Amino acid sequence: MGDTKELKLSPRLEIIAESIRGYDSVADIGSDHAYLPIFLIKNKYVKNAVATDINIGPVKISKKRIKIHGFESKITVRRGNGLEAIRPGEAEVIVIAGMGGILIRDILDANSGTAESAKLLILQPMRDSDKIRKWLFEHGFDIIDEELVKEQDKIYEVIWAKSIGKVREAKGLLLIGDKIIQKKHPLAAEYINKKISGLEKVIADLEGMYSKNCRERVEECKELTDFYREVLQWVQ
Ligand SMILES: C[S@@+](CC[C@H](N)C(=O)[O-])C[C@H]1O[C@@H](n2cnc3c(N)ncnc32)[C@H](O)[C@@H]1O
Repeated sequence: MGDTKELKLSPRLEIIAESIRGYDSVADIGSDHAYLPIFLIKNKYVKNAVATDINIGPVKISKKRIKIHGFESKITVRRGNGLEAIRPGEAEVIVIAGMGGILIRDILDANSGTAESAKLLILQPMRDSDKIRKWLFEHGFDIIDEELVKEQDKIYEVIWAKSIGKVREAKGLLLIGDKIIQKKHPLAAEYINKKISGLEKVIADLEGMYSKNCRERVEECKELTDFYREVLQWVQ
């Protein structure tokens, strides 16, 4: 999307947007250009939205774009770190998308009360999704659904969660969502094969290096490869 009034979301943001239809309010944390809130308001999926970002550049661009669309009364733009930029209960849906899983986990952890106050959390990590799943289980959240979505050559994970106040031990490897396995997601095999290829590349690159760290990393990658190979059988 450019600065024109034309609105077309990427498949990654589109799947997120479609799941927000019918809620009253949304906070898009780390909104960058505010593509998602503008789309949601334009299409009347929600009544109002907050677009936040930690950096001044995206905040300025968001304000400019929101003005072009005439949505200043419906979308509030705030500069702030993670969930500090919104009040608990202010948004029915909180979206944190397009960041690393460790950063998303840390954002949730820093203001867990605000995360708990949302009816729905939508989390879209670019990597390290296992860290998010672990945090959610250990902090009383249920993972309602998960999806994989393909954009060009990349496959992204999207996690929908909500607080149920039931803390659970996060068991086993949380590298791929149970929901993805249960529904034998059509992209699961491709996603897992990409993971296996990545790990095999690391193993090949470290071949012939005998430092303790390298050997440990190779062992770790081999264990992960075995895990993914086993999961591959469950989704086919
Ligand atoms: C790659 S963009 C993702 C934009 C959009 N959410 C998406 O999924 O397409 C990440 C954005 O998060 C912002 N960001 C990074 N850390 C943040 C934090 N702690 N709190 C709020 N925004 C943050 C960055 O400035 C950047 O604009």
